[in-house]
Amino acid sequence: MIEDKGSEHELRSYGRRRGRKPSARQAALLRDGLLQITVDAAEVADASLAWLEIGFGGGEHLLWQARHNPRALIIGCEPYEDGVIKVLSAIETEGLKNLRIHMGDVRDILRALPQGALDRAFILFPDPWPKRKHRKRRLVNSSLLELLARALKPGAELRIATDIGDYARTMLEAFRSEPGFAWQAESPADWRTQPADWVETKYEAKAIEAGRRRYYFRFLRT
Ligand SMILES: C[S@@+](CC[C@H](N)C(=O)[O-])C[C@H]1O[C@@H](n2cnc3c(N)ncnc32)[C@H](O)[C@@H]1O
Repeated sequence: MIEDKGSEHELRSYGRRRGRKPSARQAALLRDGLLQITVDAAEVADASLAWLEIGFGGGEHLLWQARHNPRALIIGCEPYEDGVIKVLSAIETEGLKNLRIHMGDVRDILRALPQGALDRAFILFPDPWPKRKHRKRRLVNSSLLELLARALKPGAELRIATDIGDYARTMLEAFRSEPGFAWQAESPADWRTQPADWVETKYEAKAIEAGRRRYYFRFLRT
């Protein structure tokens, strides 16, 4: 089991951890269900394919990938309890065997995994923190990229989406100073279009409805 430690210098990158009070069934899922699918660094190291979704929200994309890729061991990381409950319920109903969940900060997972353990990682619409004074809370920055560069194996793919132009720009700047990644884009179509194996998330649907441009980035660990 990976502890929720954090680094004392790290700012919180997420908003609420709790929404509505869980029902008795949901509380039991959080207590017992979560324990059965906790992340075990040794299992991830042994998996032939290990993927990680960071901040899965309501789990739409995480569950879709788990259903369509039964051979991949997929870790979902999300501090928001309501999202974790949704995913735990789906795992129970559908009998999905290939998901592991960490209800907490992804930076704890990335530090606990062995070097080069991951074959793929997703960060779909990280919290935008639009106010200038909050921007330092944005998750995708050079210290996260350092952690990801260590945990992803050479050739691994990292997918990131955002609907905030200014965040997209600072992300690309952070990648430019991190030699471990190569941006896979040859023309604007490459970052304007969703990858084919992708399912729309709840946050993405809101961005589309509000008419905000979305940026879809693909990087390879070099
Ligand atoms: C804007 S929401 C998007 C959720 C989902 N990916 C979607 O597209 O609908 C961003 C999510 O990232 C989660 N998050 C923020 N910081 C995180 C961290 N350090 N580790 C893991 N998840 C984080 C938040 O709790 C939130 O659910």
